[in-house]
Amino acid sequence: MPPSESYELRRGRYSKLDAPVDDDADTPTRASLDSDASSYEDLDEFDPLNYDAGTLKQKRSTGDLRARRKASYKDAEFAEKAPLKKRACAPTKLCCGLVLLFVAATVLLLSAGGIWAWKSAPSNGQSPPWYPSPKGGTDAAWAESYKKAAALVKQMTLVEKVNITTGTGWSSQMCVGNTGPVSRLKFPALCLQDGPLGIRFADNITAFPAGITVGATWNKELMYKRGRAHGKEARGKGIHVLLGPAMGPLGRMPAGGRTWEGFGPDPVLQGIAAAQTIRGIQDEGVQATAKHYLLNEQEHFRQAWEWLTPNAISSNIDDRTTHEIYAWPFAESVRAGVASVMCSYNQVNNSYACQNSKLLNGILKDELGFQGYIQSDWLAQRSGVASALAGLDMTMPGDGLKWMDGNSLWGPRLTTAILNGSVPMDRLDDMVTRVVAAWYQLGQDDTEKWPLQPPDGDGGPNFSSWTDEEIGLLYPGSTDKTTGVVNKFVNVQEDHGDIVRRVAAEGTVLVKNEDSLLPLDRNGWKEGEENANMKYRVGVFGEDARFNSDGINDCKDRSCNKGTLASGWGSGAVDFPYLIEPLAAIKKAFNDDSVYITDWPENSLPKQKEILEDQDVCIVFANADAGEGYLKWEGIRGDRNDLLLQKGSDKLVQDVAKGCGKGNGKVVVVIHTVGPVILESWINLPSVKAVLIANLPGQESGNSLVDILFGDINPSGHLPYTIAKKEDDYGPGSKILYSANGLVPQQNFTEGLYIDYRYFDKKDITPQYEFGYGLSYTRFQLSSLLISSHGPKSPLPAPRPSGIEPPTYPTDTPDPKSALFPPGFRKLSKYIYPYISSTDGISKSEVVVSQLQSTPSQAGGGQGGNPDLYTTVLTVSATVANIGLVDGDCVVQLYISLPKDYKDPETGEAVDFPVRVLRGFEKIHLDAQQAGSAEGAKGSEQGGGGNRKMVRFQVTRKDLSYWDTRQQNWVMPTTGDIGISVGFSSRDLPLQGTW
Ligand code: BGC
Ligand code: BGC
Repeated sequence: MPPSESYELRRGRYSKLDAPVDDDADTPTRASLDSDASSYEDLDEFDPLNYDAGTLKQKRSTGDLRARRKASYKDAEFAEKAPLKKRACAPTKLCCGLVLLFVAATVLLLSAGGIWAWKSAPSNGQSPPWYPSPKGGTDAAWAESYKKAAALVKQMTLVEKVNITTGTGWSSQMCVGNTGPVSRLKFPALCLQDGPLGIRFADNITAFPAGITVGATWNKELMYKRGRAHGKEARGKGIHVLLGPAMGPLGRMPAGGRTWEGFGPDPVLQGIAAAQTIRGIQDEGVQATAKHYLLNEQEHFRQAWEWLTPNAISSNIDDRTTHEIYAWPFAESVRAGVASVMCSYNQVNNSYACQNSKLLNGILKDELGFQGYIQSDWLAQRSGVASALAGLDMTMPGDGLKWMDGNSLWGPRLTTAILNGSVPMDRLDDMVTRVVAAWYQLGQDDTEKWPLQPPDGDGGPNFSSWTDEEIGLLYPGSTDKTTGVVNKFVNVQEDHGDIVRRVAAEGTVLVKNEDSLLPLDRNGWKEGEENANMKYRVGVFGEDARFNSDGINDCKDRSCNKGTLASGWGSGAVDFPYLIEPLAAIKKAFNDDSVYITDWPENSLPKQKEILEDQDVCIVFANADAGEGYLKWEGIRGDRNDLLLQKGSDKLVQDVAKGCGKGNGKVVVVIHTVGPVILESWINLPSVKAVLIANLPGQESGNSLVDILFGDINPSGHLPYTIAKKEDDYGPGSKILYSANGLVPQQNFTEGLYIDYRYFDKKDITPQYEFGYGLSYTRFQLSSLLISSHGPKSPLPAPRPSGIEPPTYPTDTPDPKSALFPPGFRKLSKYIYPYISSTDGISKSEVVVSQLQSTPSQAGGGQGGNPDLYTTVLTVSATVANIGLVDGDCVVQLYISLPKDYKDPETGEAVDFPVRVLRGFEKIHLDAQQAGSAEGAKGSEQGGGGNRKMVRFQVTRKDLSYWDTRQQNWVMPTTGDIGISVGFSSRDLPLQGTW
């Protein structure tokens, strides 16, 4: 008997709010260097120790946001329309601030008294110095842009230069980051905007699948296409610099709050996905930002004060692991020509990442030959002069140690530091030249594509991060009340929904499919199944199947797990323009005439047992959420507290598995997740036939799921991480540090290279599903491994090539008076200017010249490092065939094993290598096997039609080398066999050979 309609859950309906559009309205001029706005008082009631910009925004917004949202939605078919955002700036509550101030003061006092015998950080840090900062303009690929940049920078005054290096303050202008312009020379105020999965704080944009989903596609072409669509949207909104892709956190700790923003915990997968994304974004003329450099692997203690400790955590790591794991994707990003790199909040070896000269000057600028500019994460800059000398080029959002106090560490202070000789003029020239060169490199001087900004034109960002209204404050961070048209509601979505849908479908990993339960049939019963004259009964369970009834954009920066999960939370999230509900998409996909659907989209089941017992198939949804640490949801402060499914989903799956069809039903589990989840409590239950890890699909969630469930797209996703049987299997290094272990929390990366599958392989631990694993509705077969070398093994790359000469400038310092605020200049409160108020105390002393002259690295000499590191040393090929009955895409993976028991021939010291490491992958489309036999198969080269193709990998010198800390170079072992394996996952490697 079919269950009654009363099981149907009723959900709210919303009505649509039409966004007002008025393209013709005048946009008043925004403040520029020459701006002449009136002076205003500071914000009151503001506690900088407990600043949370979001709270601030919400507090200031007028009216009941929730109420407004409810009234402003429309549930169009099953695509729920997004509410308009409302973000205004408001002060936090004084009392709350005082309590926190008290706590912070107590922490300081206790520590000063030495009451806590906590480990303390070494006073000089543990990071080697690398000075002076290498200049940009040494790579031929950027030669033209540097030439143009030098010509422009030569005309700039000191304050004009400083204006380019320093953000104008949080929420001072329309974007999350804004630099000061040099209007005289038509160099614009740059707009920097989050983030890696779409355009944050904007309307009419696309909510793409998150990085982790993209990683799971293992599809280079889709990685590029998603980047390109994202870049195009940014350009359409007037954004110069996109704050993505994220490739750090890499995923050392599976519970890390932000790993979903990146592409998975393997440096090669992460590096290829990042580079493809960057190429896509930059081919649209938008600057990409590789972030977060480096080792910001967890949210807890990531920044000073956010977690009450006065300092950020220190990630303590060895040189080899830095090179082989965490810096690797950044090397790939630089090789792809990335315009900007964002240094992270945390410390590395007890030196803040944004003033760590080894990381910035040494590795990034010298060794990796980075030609663009380094910007700080938002308030990650912790010193003025030191960060400048260590290689930081731009401070964001311009505010100094505290949010929105108008007190920058650069701005006027950088001006002063140049005037009194603390920072050499050539360092400032290099900072500015790097920024201006990146602007030319991306063609942003083309006024057709980037119209001039006010007062010369109406270019610049055409949206406001701070309000949904058409007319809004021009400088919301200050007390200035000047308003103008801030939102032009430009629709930039084009057909990007199709890309979202494809990425999300290919990023869905089928990990279990017993008795070929999937794909389902739209008509219900499959051919030959019994009960062919009864309706096929499908039950859909779990809150994750439906919308959040408070609206798809309910919580600030998506910081709650309510309803279906399609994105994690934080600055990496966007306002969904619409979201396709899985439940509605499933209902629509099945044929009503032959299928009866019951839904119970809640996590606790009703008392009536029939809801389960009467089903032939049960589809149950479950999820796990996480996000950025400035927001929390139910005790999850960014990082997850465990790797279990959330909101009682494990119990739900177990109950559904037990009860579905009185135990004869078949269960499909669909999981939306930010990262690895432990499935152990139900994965082996006999009724659990099929499991889909759908990651974070973005706005097309339901559609992409249906594509896979019904086989319109044959699953080809593979896990971009390992799914363990239990949390401890990831090893001791995988644990988040949840409680501070010192005033400067210390986290030692003692596991070195052994994270994710490298750890499982080393310790011989059997995971539930290994890295790289994923099923298809067809079967593939590999054969004919061929390894051809392009020459003998040799330990070192060719000597570092000498690059081209960077531009030079006169080094004399100007008259301090030239840096004073122009007479009559009326300042905006909190807005950061480069001018100084007085020349008192500025004495021109000897310019500090670095005593240290660090030696350029032999591993350097080109973008991404010594070009010879990227020379192809081996070509590996194999044949892959589809031996099943449906067409499909196959991911072929290449792993390398450096020699076992290897000893450095010069020192005799043993060098340990991971069992195997991923070095390449290709996704190949293969037609189904022709009716008949494998003999009837058509052979073909990669790229053609047919069910059998050749796949080829070009293996580089770097792929076959390790980072030798003694030689400070990549070294290829020349004795012993190098193992080459080709297969379908990190543990399913049917083809094995050696070189
Ligand atoms: C901002 C984020 C930023 C965070 C840092 C938030 O208020 O919205 O962009 O990542 O502060 O703490
Ligand atoms: C985040 C960055 C982001 C920035 C601006 C920071 O707190 O860590 O990823 O780009 O805020 O919103």
